[in-house]
Amino acid sequence: MQLKIALLGGDGIGPEVLAQSVKCLKAVEETFNHRFIYHEAPVGAIAMTSTGKPLPDETLKLCRESDAILFGAIGALEYDNNPEAKIRPEQGLLKLRKELELFASIRPIRTFPTLIHNSPLKEKIIVNTNLVIFRELTGGIYFGKKTISADGTIASDLCEYSEQEISRIAHLAFKAAKKRRKKLTLVDKANVLESSRLWRKTVTEIGKSYSDVELQCLFIDNAAVQMMLKPDQFDVILTDNMFGDILSDLGSVIIGSSGLLPTASVGSDNAMFEPFHGSYPQAKGKNIANPIASILSTAMMLQHFGMDEEANAVMSAVHKSFVKKVVTPDVLGSSKYGTEYVGDYITENIVDSDENFNLNEE
Ligand code: IPM
Ligand code: MN
Repeated sequence: MQLKIALLGGDGIGPEVLAQSVKCLKAVEETFNHRFIYHEAPVGAIAMTSTGKPLPDETLKLCRESDAILFGAIGALEYDNNPEAKIRPEQGLLKLRKELELFASIRPIRTFPTLIHNSPLKEKIIVNTNLVIFRELTGGIYFGKKTISADGTIASDLCEYSEQEISRIAHLAFKAAKKRRKKLTLVDKANVLESSRLWRKTVTEIGKSYSDVELQCLFIDNAAVQMMLKPDQFDVILTDNMFGDILSDLGSVIIGSSGLLPTASVGSDNAMFEPFHGSYPQAKGKNIANPIASILSTAMMLQHFGMDEEANAVMSAVHKSFVKKVVTPDVLGSSKYGTEYVGDYITENIVDSDENFNLNEE
C-alpha cells in the first residue's frame, strides 16, 4: 500500500521539527516494509512571501489528494506585532481546517513518568493525568462573522454553532469515552452563552444513547481551575473551538513543556497531524526546538492508518529518549542535545519488537 503524505512545514521551527518526523517515517518504511510518498507544500507566512496567500490553491489541492497531512507550525513575529495586517499566516491553517472539514481536534494529555518532575505542578497532582480533549475545530467564534466599525472603534466576532456541528463531534467524543474510562466532561459557559446552552442540550440528548458513559458538565472557568487542581478527574473533555484552544495550552502546563504534545485534526474524509505548539520564531534555525510533539503527531497518523505496531514502535523510541535523557533543553535545562540529535536518536531506535508499549509504564 502506498500512502500519500502531504508535508506542510510552515513557519518558524515547523520545518525543523517536521524533518525529524520524516526521518522517523523513513525508518518505519524500512522496518515494516511500507512505502510512503511525500509531497512538500508551502503554507503560512512563508507561502505569503512566495505566493501572496497563506494557503495557496496548489497546497490545498495537494492536501485534498493526500491520505494524511503532517503539519509543522504557523505564525511569524512581523504579523503578531501588527494588528493592522489584513492577511495573516494563521488564516492558512484555519482555511485548511475549514476547507477539509477537519471538525475534531483530538489532543491527548498524559504525563510521562520519566518527565514528571518537569511540570511546575506538584507530582501528586499530575501523576495520574490521562485525558483527551475533543475540541470542535471548524465552528464557533473562530469562524463567525467578524465586524469592525467604520471608525475602527467597535469590533465583534460572532460565536455560532448548529446542532449538527455539535452532534458530529459529540458522537466521536462519546465513542472515545466508551473505549476509555467512560467519563465525558462537556466544558461550556451555559450560564451566560446561548451557544453553550445549545451545546448542553444537544450533548445531554446524545448522551442518552451512550448510557454507560457518565456525562458531567462544567463551566469553562471552573474547568480551568479543576484542570490545575485535579487533572486526573478527567477522561474525555468535549468543548468548543475557543475553550478547547485555551484548555489544551493549559494541558501543556501539566506536562511541563509545550514541545511534547501531539494533535490529530480529523474530519470525514481527511486528517491532519500537528503539534500543539506554535512556530516559536525565536528558536528558528537554532537546532533547539523539541521535535517530540511532531514525532508523536506522526505516531497518531500511523494509528489513523491502522498501523498500531508501527505507532507503538515510534512511541517506544520516544520513550527511550526520555529514559536515556536524550531530550532538548526545554525538557531538561542541562541537556546539550539539539533537535537533529534527538530526531536521529529516536529514528535509530525505531525497531519491530513484540513489546506492547504503553507510555504510562516504566
Ligand atoms: C492551535 C493554535 C491555532 C489555534 C492558531 C495557530 C490559529 O493555537 O492549534 O491551538 O488557535 O487553533
Ligand atoms: Mn492553541
